[in-house]
Amino acid sequence: MTPPATITSNSPADTRRLGERLGALLESGDVVLLSGELGAGKTVFVQGMARGLEFDGSVSSKSFVLLGEYSGRLTLYHADLYRLEDPEQVQELALDEISAGGVLVVEWPERAGEAVLPDEHLLVQFEVMDENKRELRVYPTGDRAKQVMAGLSD
Ligand SMILES: Nc1ncnc2c1ncn2[C@@H]1O[C@H](COP(=O)(O)OP(=O)(O)OP(=O)(O)O)[C@@H](O)[C@H]1O
Ligand SMILES: [Mg+2]
Repeated sequence: MTPPATITSNSPADTRRLGERLGALLESGDVVLLSGELGAGKTVFVQGMARGLEFDGSVSSKSFVLLGEYSGRLTLYHADLYRLEDPEQVQELALDEISAGGVLVVEWPERAGEAVLPDEHLLVQFEVMDENKRELRVYPTGDRAKQVMAGLSD
């Protein structure tokens, strides 16, 4: 696996800014997976991504909705699989088909079971260092994801 880029965030605003930078780089078909414990900052990052994709509204955090949809420069599909009880529900979401028509970001991707998520993606792992500090490790899979990661570290 390509060694990750490690980015430190010292505040929610930092994390939002990082998400925004990523959002600005994304193209239709791109897939971003966000893993990390509860409260690690995944949804804060998605809020930034939505802004980077020129979406003006608000991004809901904990909801019972498995799939949020935010239309900006592209449509951002936001799947939060935390509450998923049955992996079959993910099959029904058809995330691979959805991602073809916009950008897909998935929180708690490990709940899906590997098979149903697109192979090529950018994985961001969030680690809580202390109350306000997070480490984000970025692992690209596929050429497109590598290109995006390179843009992010410029
Ligand atoms: N550097 C940071 N980056 C992001 N969030 C931070 C940071 N420091 C503190 N926080 C706080 O941590 C919390 C992150 O919440 P968020 O909803 O984004 O987590 P999450 O990873 O989506 O959790 P969940 O798995 O429950 O969906 C917020 O309350 C935020 O204010
Ligand atoms: Mg969340």
